[in-house]
Amino acid sequence: MKATAIANANIALVKYWGKRDKKLILPYNGSISMTCDGLFTITTVEFSDKYKKDLVIINDEELKKDEKDVLGHIERIRQMAKIKEKAKIVSESNFPIAAGLASSASGLAALTVAAAKAASLNLNQRELSILARQGSGSACRSIFGGFVEWLVGKKEDGSDSYARQIVNENYWPEFRMIVTILTEEKKKVGSRAGMAQTVETCPYYESWLKTVNQDLDVIREGILKRDFRKVGLQAEYNCLKMHALMMTTKPAIIYWIPATMEIIQNVLLWREKGLECYFTIDAGPQVKIICLEKDIPKIKRKLKNIKGIKKIIVCKPGEDAKLIDKHLF
Ligand code: DP6
Repeated sequence: MKATAIANANIALVKYWGKRDKKLILPYNGSISMTCDGLFTITTVEFSDKYKKDLVIINDEELKKDEKDVLGHIERIRQMAKIKEKAKIVSESNFPIAAGLASSASGLAALTVAAAKAASLNLNQRELSILARQGSGSACRSIFGGFVEWLVGKKEDGSDSYARQIVNENYWPEFRMIVTILTEEKKKVGSRAGMAQTVETCPYYESWLKTVNQDLDVIREGILKRDFRKVGLQAEYNCLKMHALMMTTKPAIIYWIPATMEIIQNVLLWREKGLECYFTIDAGPQVKIICLEKDIPKIKRKLKNIKGIKKIIVCKPGEDAKLIDKHLF
């Protein structure tokens, strides 16, 4: 009853921000992401009588503050499988967690795939996506590789709110996201609490919902046509709309730091001068630069001149979450 899985993080081109059902994690709007090769989590799960309580170790540290309710997710899987054994879970990510780098997406997706297998649940990818969604919304997209859409769904039980692949990782192999790491500090407001606050207090939330379907249509079509400009422009616009919601939430949620703004300004300037790149930012200060493979050396050189960038990680479209043989314990 032991299994290990690897899942890539994903970065949204059309963002998920707000839940219509907090318990089942059902979104108010659909979203589209790229699964990122290079930002991954590996998780081993073992259910056994030898454990007296659930034990979760993430990046060598025992889980204390369970913001994403990892233990609740394990219990959900135990109930589905009708088993009683407690679990040991060891998880490692190759990037800073909880700094707006989609760690919960890869983390909960890897946990879902490993735990479902360890509990002998035989689930297909759609079922895994629905299960991962209940751990963390964005995790439902990390079940699939390439470019992925999380369908908003209508049903109250969430059975029609899952992710599906638009195209796999080989369809547009030149597509890149350069993740800039500006700080490894844990953010003050998590996405879960932040989006709930937005839904409750932001006067512009309705406008977001009115316009997001158009963003989805443009980006889905842009991906299918490999129209880089179309995807980049619309993704940048969607990101700014989400940050406008965050900033006009009460109390205001401002994830940007000076280096965030510096990169934004530079991306706009480089584009004006003919270097085609766009930015997107999630619930944290880190900027992801959307570009094509051919422009990576040039952009890397330019980024060297920006103080405040600690590290960069270049991601291309990554693979589906999958089981692997090598266990972490
Ligand atoms: C800004 O999936 O982390 O990254 O469902 O509460 O776990 P929960 O939230 P989470 O939110 C991600 C928000 C985002 C946008 C996105 O990835 O679509």
